Amino acid sequence: MTAIFAHRGFSAAAPENTMSAFKAAERVGADGIELDVQLTKDGRLVVIHDEKLERTTNGRGFVKDWEWKDLARLQANRKFPNVTVDIGLPLLEDVFEWMTGNALICNVELKNNEFDYEGIEEKVLALIRQFNYEERVIISSFNHYSLTRMRQIAPDIETAVLYSSHLYMPWKYAEAIRAQAIHPNIRTVKDGIIEETLNAGLSIRPYTVNKTKQMKRFMEKGCSAIFTDDPQTALAIRQGLRNQ
Ligand code: G3P
Ligand code: CA
Repeated sequence: MTAIFAHRGFSAAAPENTMSAFKAAERVGADGIELDVQLTKDGRLVVIHDEKLERTTNGRGFVKDWEWKDLARLQANRKFPNVTVDIGLPLLEDVFEWMTGNALICNVELKNNEFDYEGIEEKVLALIRQFNYEERVIISSFNHYSLTRMRQIAPDIETAVLYSSHLYMPWKYAEAIRAQAIHPNIRTVKDGIIEETLNAGLSIRPYTVNKTKQMKRFMEKGCSAIFTDDPQTALAIRQGLRNQ
């Protein structure tokens, strides 16, 4: 069965990467959530997609230039001004704490393709160990050096190759860097890639799958999971396919 991951939470219905979006994903019955982490100036793991604050929050400048005490005051509901609860920037530890009350899987995307955020792998790993989430967290990144770093320090945590270009034989590449999964941009996903990846014993989870036709295709092809902004629609489609 294709798992359904709420991309940045239920981001079609609530401000992305906020507790409001994560809680909405849980409410509709998603199997997992995806979120993005960056490092603050004082080394805290904060959940936000962009390196800069402007698009999603009422703050300005780079995340890396602010201490957590300053970022903690911000509201991240720019796209959904009518949502007024659970709209702060969460720390990763806040999300993990909330996950103690559910069974969701969490894909932590390390957003270190723009800035290195030295030590981000160790910090995320420490939190995974603290919460015993070895089986509940998947680490992905567009920075594949970071994935290999994570593999070195935590051979037991799943890593996934995130990419948006037309990688040749991506399952072979994933094996070469000892990742267990690929997370391709949907534009790059040919049927043969799905088949070969699954045959090689790896997982494949395309992003971001928001059209119903695409959802059906990836489910029918047996993808391990999809990332979608709209987990509610994806769940309905999955249920429809199971009832056929
Ligand atoms: O992890 C899948 C997807 O989230 C990667 O792209 O830009 O939405 O973080 P982006
Ligand atoms: Ca992401």
